[in-house]
Amino acid sequence: MLKNFPEKAETLENIMGRLNEYGRNDIKNSRGRLFTYFYDPGINLLDQTSEIFLNFYNRNGMDYHAFPSTLKIENDVIAMMGSLMHGDDNLAGTFTTGGTESIMLAVKSARDKYFESHNGIPEIVMPVTAHPAFGKAAEYLGLKTVILPVNDKYIMDTEELKNSINDNTAMIVASAPSFPYGVIDPVKEASEIAMDKNKWLHVDACVGGMILPFLKDLGVEMEKFDFSLPGVSSISIDLHKYGFTPKGSSVILYKNRELRKHQIYVNARWPGYPMSNSGLQATKSAGPLAGTWAILNFLGRNGYDKLAEKTLKAYRIISKGISSSGFKIVGKPDATIFAFTGDNIFDTGVKMIENGWYPQIQPANVKMDLPPSVHLNICPVHLEVADEFLDTLKAIKNNNHNTDENQLEILKLKNKYETVDKLVKMIKEDNNKTVLFHILRNFDYNTGENIFRIITDEDFTASKN
Ligand SMILES: Cc1ncc(COP(=O)(O)O)c(C=O)c1O
Repeated sequence: MLKNFPEKAETLENIMGRLNEYGRNDIKNSRGRLFTYFYDPGINLLDQTSEIFLNFYNRNGMDYHAFPSTLKIENDVIAMMGSLMHGDDNLAGTFTTGGTESIMLAVKSARDKYFESHNGIPEIVMPVTAHPAFGKAAEYLGLKTVILPVNDKYIMDTEELKNSINDNTAMIVASAPSFPYGVIDPVKEASEIAMDKNKWLHVDACVGGMILPFLKDLGVEMEKFDFSLPGVSSISIDLHKYGFTPKGSSVILYKNRELRKHQIYVNARWPGYPMSNSGLQATKSAGPLAGTWAILNFLGRNGYDKLAEKTLKAYRIISKGISSSGFKIVGKPDATIFAFTGDNIFDTGVKMIENGWYPQIQPANVKMDLPPSVHLNICPVHLEVADEFLDTLKAIKNNNHNTDENQLEILKLKNKYETVDKLVKMIKEDNNKTVLFHILRNFDYNTGENIFRIITDEDFTASKN
C-alpha cells in the first residue's frame, strides 16, 4: 500500500529528525572528500550568501513585471558571463537550472533554425566525449546524433568532423573541456569549418566556462574557445560547477538574439494569462539567480583567480602523485578535471569510495577504444587533503591483486546465457559495483543501458507503508 498522505501535523523537530535519518547514508560534503557532484571552494560561500538565496527564493521569475528585480539580476548575470566569453553588444542569453537545460535550449534553437530552410531529420555532430545531455536533447527533441571518434589526444578529430557534416547537420558540438578527460576540443578549427559550411557551432563550456578564463589569467596556455572565434554560435556554462554558486544555476549564451529567437515560447491561445517564457521554465525561483549574482559580485575576477590558483596547485600535486603511483593520466588535460587509468581501475575506484573518497568511475565501453578510468574534478578544497588522498590511493594500489581481470572471467562464465533481469538481480543482491562497471565496459551498449534503465525504474518506486 502506498505511504499515506500525512493525517496530522508533525513538529519541525520530528520532521528534521526523520530527514536526518533519511540522509544518514548520503555522502558527506565534509572537506574535500567529493571529487564530483559538489564544487567546494574551501570557503563557506553558501553559508555567507544563504540569506540572499532565501530572501529571493519565493520571488517568481516567470513574471518579471511583478518581480522586476529578477529581470534586472538575470540581465546582469548574462552580461557578466557574456563579457567573460568575449561576446559583443549583440549577445543574448538566458539563466537556466543547469547544463542539461542550457544544452536542451541550444539544441531546440539550432533545430528550429535548421527547420527554417530544411525539412529532413536534423543531426547533431559531436565527439564521443560530448556530454550525454546532447543525446538526451536529441531524444527529447527529435534529432539524430552523429558520434565522432576522438584522436590520440582525446579531442575531436576535425577531419572526421568535415566528413560528417551534411545537409542535415543542424549543430556541431565542441567541448571546452570535455568532462571525461578535461581536454579542450579544437574549437578554432571547428569554428572555421562551421563558418565555411554555414553551420551552428555550440561550445559546451558547462564544466570549463568558470575555470578556464581564470587559469588563463594565471598564465596557463590554452586555445581560444569562446565568442572571440567568429564561428561560435552558442555557449553553455554552468555556474553551479566552478562558479561555486547554488545548485540550479547555468547560462546559455548566444552570439546574438536572432539565434535565440526560437527559444522564446509565447502562447495566448487559452483563456488564462498570456504566456511568454524566455526559456523552459514557467514558474522559476529567483533563489539560485540571486545567489549566483551575489557570489559573482562577492568574488569578482580577483576572487575567482585566487580560487583557480588553489585549484591549479591541488591539481598539480594530485596529478603528479597519481602518475608517480603507477597510474597513467589520460591525455593532457587543459583544465583541472582529468581521468587516470591503470590496472584494476574499477576496483581502485570502488575501493576509494569504500575509503570515504568519491571519484567517478568511467567504464568507457570497449567499442569506443578508450581506456576505462577514474575521474576527478579538482577544487580549491582539495589542496587541504591532497596528501591524504594520495596516501589512500597508494595503499589501495599496493594491495590490489588483479581482481578486475578475475572478476571479468567469472562474469563471462556466469552470465553467458543469463538475461538482463538476472544480471540486475545479481548486481543488486551482491551489491557488487565492479561487476556493473565490467558489464558496461565489455557487454554491448544495450545490455548495459537496459540494466541501468531497470535499476532506475525500480529505484524510483513510490514509497510503501
Ligand atoms: C561538459 C558538461 N556538459 C553538460 C553537463 C550537464 O550539466 P548538469 O548536470 O548541470 O545538467 C555537464 C555536467 O557535468 C558537463 O560536465
